[in-house]
Amino acid sequence: MKLDTILILDFGGQYCHLIGRRIRENNVYTEIAPYDISKKDFEKISQNFNVKGLVLSGGPSSVYEKNAPRVPEEILELKIPILGLCYGHQLIAYLLRGKVKTAEKKEYGLSLATLKKPLAILKGLKKKEKIWMSHGDTVFSPPPGFETLASTKNCPVAAFRSKKKPIFGIQWHPEVAHTESGNKTFKNFLFEICKCRKDWQPVNLIKNLVAEIKKMVGKERAIVALSGGIDSSVATVLAAIALGRNLTAVFVDHGLMRENESRQVRETFKKFDLNFIVMQEKNRFLKKLKGVKSPERKRKIIGNEFIRVFEKAARRVKANYLVQGTIYPDRIESGYARKSEKIKTHHNVAGLPTKIKFKGIVEPLQDLYKDEVRLLAKKIGLPKEILFRQPFPGPGLAVRIIGEVTGKKIKILKKADKIVREEIERWNFGKNLWQYFAVLLDTKTTGVKGDKRAYGQIIALRVVESREAMTANFAKVPYQILEKISTRIVNEIPEVVRVVYDITHKPPSTIEWE
Ligand code: XMP
Repeated sequence: MKLDTILILDFGGQYCHLIGRRIRENNVYTEIAPYDISKKDFEKISQNFNVKGLVLSGGPSSVYEKNAPRVPEEILELKIPILGLCYGHQLIAYLLRGKVKTAEKKEYGLSLATLKKPLAILKGLKKKEKIWMSHGDTVFSPPPGFETLASTKNCPVAAFRSKKKPIFGIQWHPEVAHTESGNKTFKNFLFEICKCRKDWQPVNLIKNLVAEIKKMVGKERAIVALSGGIDSSVATVLAAIALGRNLTAVFVDHGLMRENESRQVRETFKKFDLNFIVMQEKNRFLKKLKGVKSPERKRKIIGNEFIRVFEKAARRVKANYLVQGTIYPDRIESGYARKSEKIKTHHNVAGLPTKIKFKGIVEPLQDLYKDEVRLLAKKIGLPKEILFRQPFPGPGLAVRIIGEVTGKKIKILKKADKIVREEIERWNFGKNLWQYFAVLLDTKTTGVKGDKRAYGQIIALRVVESREAMTANFAKVPYQILEKISTRIVNEIPEVVRVVYDITHKPPSTIEWE
C-alpha cells in the first residue's frame, strides 16, 4: 500500500528539511521535490506515493526578482490542499493576484501574531501566538477570494486561506522550534485538512532494509565507510546483519579525530559480526595540509584524500559494493536529478565522487532523517556513546585549528578537547548540549606561568545548545565548570596561556569556527 505523503516543493530555503522532519515526526511521510515540478512529474511521484497535500517551502528569493522561482500554475490547480510557508506564502499571494511588497521593516526572529480567525490551519491556536519570522517581503492584501487569518505588527497578512479551495499561506515558520504552536499548525494541515493516515513508522523498516541489502549484494563483498557517527554506524549494523563476514567496515584515521576515537569505534563494533579495518593515514593528510590556511581548501583536501584512502581499502579487500550512511538531506543536498520522478543515489563518500567503479552503491538510510536513524539505532541496540555522540565534522579537528594544521597543534587541541569533554561530562552537563569542544586560535597572547612571562596559545571553548544545528545558542555553562576547564587546560597544556568562552549564537555565528 502506498504511503500517505506530503510533497514539499523546495524553494531553496534552509528550512525545507525542517518542514520534512516536523511532518514525519507526526508519522506522515514526506518527499521533497524541486519547485518547478510539472504536473507530469507530479503524476509520476503519485505512482509511488499517495500525495495528500503540498507544502511550498520558504526561500531566499523575492517574488519580484527577474528569475524568481515560481511554481507552475498547473500545480496550484491540483485538487489537493496546498500550504505556502514564508516565500511559499508570498508566492501564492503574488500568483493569485494579491499584493506583495518589500516591507519597510524586515522581520527576523521572534514576533507576535494576532489571530483574527483561529480556524482551519490555525484551529486551536491562541489569540496571540509567539512565532518565528524571517522575511523581507510582506503580503499586504490577500488574493481575491481569500481571507486574512492573522497579522503581526509589520505584516498585515501573516496568514490567509482561500474561501473556496484548500489553499493556505503562513508568513512565519511553524517548522522552527521557536514557533510555539508550530506542531499544532502542522497537525491541522495533516489530519484536519489533508486527512492523512499516520502510516509512517521508521522502526518497522529494519527488516525490509536488511532484506534489500541482502538482495542487492547477494553473495559478494562490500565495504562500508564507518566514521563512528550515527548514520554510518546504523548503515554498518544493518549491512552486517545482512552480509556478515562479507562486509568490511573501513575506518579512516586521518589523524584529525578526537583522542581515542578509533579505539572506541573498534571496541563498539567488536560485538558485531563483521571485518573491521583501520586505515592509519595521518602522515598523508598532514603532508597535504602543510601550509594551507583557507578553511575551504582544508575541507577539499581532506575530502579528496579521504577518498583516495578509501579506494585503497576497497581494492585491498576486493569489494564490489559500497555501503554508505547517506541520509535524506545528504541525498537532496547533493542535487536531485531535476525533473526526475525519484531522486537517485549518488556515488559519494564524504560528499565527493569516487573513481572506483562499484557494481552498486547501497544506501539503506537514503530516505531517512537523522532523528529517524536514531530510532533505528536504538532498536538495533547501538550503545549510547553512538546514540548520543556529538556531531563531529568530517574534516575533524582541522576546522577547529584556525590557520595551518600542524602535528603540534593537533596534539594541543586533542588535549584541550579531551579536557572539555571530561569536565562537561563529569559535571553531567552534557545531556542538553548539542556540542561542546575546544578551538585552537592562530594568534598568540601574553600570560604568566610560574613567575615568568609566557607567550602562548589561546583556546576558545564552544558549547552550544541546538535542536537541529540551523540555529544554536551558546550554553550558559556554570562558571564553576568553565573555571575548572580553564584551569585544567592552562595547567595541563604548557603551550596554552589563555582560555576564552565563545558567547555568540548562531546566527550570526556558525557552530564551528571555520
Ligand atoms: P556550522 O558550523 O555550519 O555547523 O554551524 C553545523 C553543524 O554541522 C557540523 N559541520 C560539519 N559536518 N562536515 C560535516 O560532516 C563539515 O564540513 C562540517 N562543518 C560543520 C557542525 O559540527 C555542526 O554540528
